[in-house]
Amino acid sequence: MRTTQVAIVGAGPSGLLLSQLLSREGIDSVVLERESREHVQGRIRAGLLEWTTVELLREAGVGGRMMQEGLIHEGFDVAFANGRHRIDLKALTGKSMLVYGQNELQKDLAETRSGEPGAVLWQVRDVALHDCDSRAPRVSYTHEGTRQELRCDFLAGCDGYHGVSRTVIPRERLAQYERVYPFGWLGLLADVPPLHAELVYARHERGFALCSMRSPGRSRYYVQCPLEDTVGEWPDGRFWDELRLRVPEWYAARLVTGPSLEKSIVPLRSLVTEPMQFGRLFLVGDAAHIVPPTGAKGLNLAAADVRVLSRALIEFYRNRSATLLEEYSTRALSRVWKATRFSWWFTRLLHRFSTDPFAQRMQSAELEYLAGSEAASRSLAENYVGLSFD
Ligand code: FAD
Ligand code: PHB
Repeated sequence: MRTTQVAIVGAGPSGLLLSQLLSREGIDSVVLERESREHVQGRIRAGLLEWTTVELLREAGVGGRMMQEGLIHEGFDVAFANGRHRIDLKALTGKSMLVYGQNELQKDLAETRSGEPGAVLWQVRDVALHDCDSRAPRVSYTHEGTRQELRCDFLAGCDGYHGVSRTVIPRERLAQYERVYPFGWLGLLADVPPLHAELVYARHERGFALCSMRSPGRSRYYVQCPLEDTVGEWPDGRFWDELRLRVPEWYAARLVTGPSLEKSIVPLRSLVTEPMQFGRLFLVGDAAHIVPPTGAKGLNLAAADVRVLSRALIEFYRNRSATLLEEYSTRALSRVWKATRFSWWFTRLLHRFSTDPFAQRMQSAELEYLAGSEAASRSLAENYVGLSFD
């Protein structure tokens, strides 16, 4: 039987970052991941980091390549009615964002953690959590064909929306608040130059579109699509035609198309689990909450949870004080709810929900108000760059 101080389930960004931050303080952890390292690094997901996330990654010692290759963005466009309104993040908040793909971040984190042999176990099967509400929690799992057990002081559930950690909390101890949106996002990645130097969020009668990027030569585009659609129904040509229709003509004329490297559909959902802890088990990131990607908050919220939990664990091992650990859920949730509200609001502002003419007029009025009001633009900018921790 192996022992560690913190057992971490899941090697997504939250699991690996937590493990790395703890390691720098001499706290031992073991990460148990179901998939292979190659699979985890190949997943195309988020692409935009808040500055607090950037700083946390630098603090963890994994920011070298990110600072060289990441693209600093000081603003973005909201496009509607064939026009555009720029949100000047830098001028309105003093802060910027960094474009850096989640898969690149996964590579950096996995590379750094691989320096400690045995710290991350890939392709682990049948993870089961035991005695989470006792002083001696355990995890059992199968690795390389053998059933094994890991004893620990604390458990971190970093295993995403489909993970096991959330399911061990008794139903009567857990409240879940959920909203499922009646559409998805079809994403396409291609080695073509982005249609604009900054991100463009477009509201159109045909549905929402987002023009994002990974580098000066690699673009990431999304279009709102019906939930029932499959990737097979969207050959590249259909995707490019649809995107061109949804952005202002000025942009459409500049769109460079090319073969897709990846295409996938994600359903949109908001979910918050309360509380985010049960005994010595702490839920982190997507295991505890999901936001629709419109506000680019998923990955950043996961990093914010890691920040709160790592500081609480460090405080426990340094000073034997459990105060911050006891406050984990309350502290994390205060940020989570605000980001959930923002992501819900921004999704509602830009997507086509129904054919109801009143709802559509309300959306247009709100967009016009946004474009004409510095106060409204600042409120959007403040939430987009991430609210402060204090
Ligand atoms: P995850 O990244 O989900 O990591 C959880 C890890 O746990 C995974 O590696 C998984 O394999 C592992 N795991 C699960 N179950 C088990 C188990 N039983 N045992 C062991 N390991 C297990 N956010 C944005 O801001 N913009 C986007 O465009 C965007 N696109 C997304 C697309 C998809 C398909 C998804 C799923 C999410 C997207 N997100 C996006 C959200 C963002 O990627 C997540 O918020 C972020 O990955 C959260 O990190 P995490 O480490 O908490 O969870
Ligand atoms: C992305 O680049 O994948 C991306 C950017 C901003 C979002 C969502 C996704 O709001």
